[in-house]
Amino acid sequence: MFGINILGTGSYSPSLNVTNDDMSKIVETSDEWISTRTGIKSRFLSDGESAWQMGAKASERAIEAAGINPEEIGLVIGSTVTGDFYTPSLACLVQNAVGAVNAAAFDLNAACSGFAYSVDTAKRFLQTDDTLKYVLIVSSEVLSRFVDYTDRSTCVLFGDGAGAVVVERSEKLYTSFLGSDGNGAKFLYAKRFFPQHPFRTGETVDYGPDFTNETQFLFQDGKEVYKFATKALPTAAANAAEKIGLDPAEIDWFIPHQANVRIIETAAKNLGVSMDRFIVNLNRHGNTSSASIPTAFDEAVRDGRLKRGQKICLVGFGAGLTYGAVICEY
Ligand code: ACO
Repeated sequence: MFGINILGTGSYSPSLNVTNDDMSKIVETSDEWISTRTGIKSRFLSDGESAWQMGAKASERAIEAAGINPEEIGLVIGSTVTGDFYTPSLACLVQNAVGAVNAAAFDLNAACSGFAYSVDTAKRFLQTDDTLKYVLIVSSEVLSRFVDYTDRSTCVLFGDGAGAVVVERSEKLYTSFLGSDGNGAKFLYAKRFFPQHPFRTGETVDYGPDFTNETQFLFQDGKEVYKFATKALPTAAANAAEKIGLDPAEIDWFIPHQANVRIIETAAKNLGVSMDRFIVNLNRHGNTSSASIPTAFDEAVRDGRLKRGQKICLVGFGAGLTYGAVICEY
């Protein structure tokens, strides 16, 4: 089987640690409400650190753990929905910062599924290009950039952070499933700033009838996203497993997107897998979009839970709507 070997992992959290009690000082909420509805107790927020700087720190740690020379990295894939620049990409800035001087670099945007999409993209590049030795995947998010801190229904959910992995080709077990449902785009979005150029005749911008939120802050229909997420997570994992005739029960660790512990509990039930096989760190990080899976992954590697030879499932869902799972051997 053509697969990948995950050589090293790294993650980075910014310095501001904001608890639920801190949140209750800026919006009408409580630790009790946030904890029982989401499982989140605190989150890290950027104190001005940019996405690429956080991504570079996570990547340096992944490269160090992999024990490789960054000059041998042939491709950097960046995943972010909150990049610092329209252009250049997160990947290019990280490529320069870590000294991956021989690498191509690009970003992909699959929101909270971005890490699973990136790992699968890396695998396909490795499969079709024999000269490619190592791929660096970096997910970095400054969600505080577009979260409305006067809206209690969204601001308590999100955090900032970065995670990275270095992968190479191998013959280990590998399967994946990626999906999307653009019809649900209207349930979770943040509009881009649209400048008034000198030749425009009107003042309004037409984003289409579905996107009526007038601000550029993140809009979420929590109930619709919840419904989608509880289906998408088990569907992606089960579909990936089915491709190679694997029973989800044979997977040692699920590393899901960290949005809400109730979503993970429901998905675990639907998959018939016990919760103690799910890596969960959202209580300390909140939802860091595409950075959440590699951050949880790195923590589980470093605290010794994840062991070489175990089967893992990286499974994401998010805006787009997108969903995706990669099952591989660690
Ligand atoms: N503190 C106190 N009360 C609150 C808060 C808060 N932080 N937020 C909302 N409420 C109130 C609402 O105003 C509402 O009050 P009302 O009944 O007087 O109108 C009440 O709580 C219930 O609101 P609901 O939206 O019904 O609460 P629900 O139980 O659905 O939980 C939540 C909301 C946690 C957002 C849930 O819908 C959810 O988790 N959805 C999925 C969100 C998600 O995972 N998003 C990310 C996935 S993709 C990605 O990562 C980008």
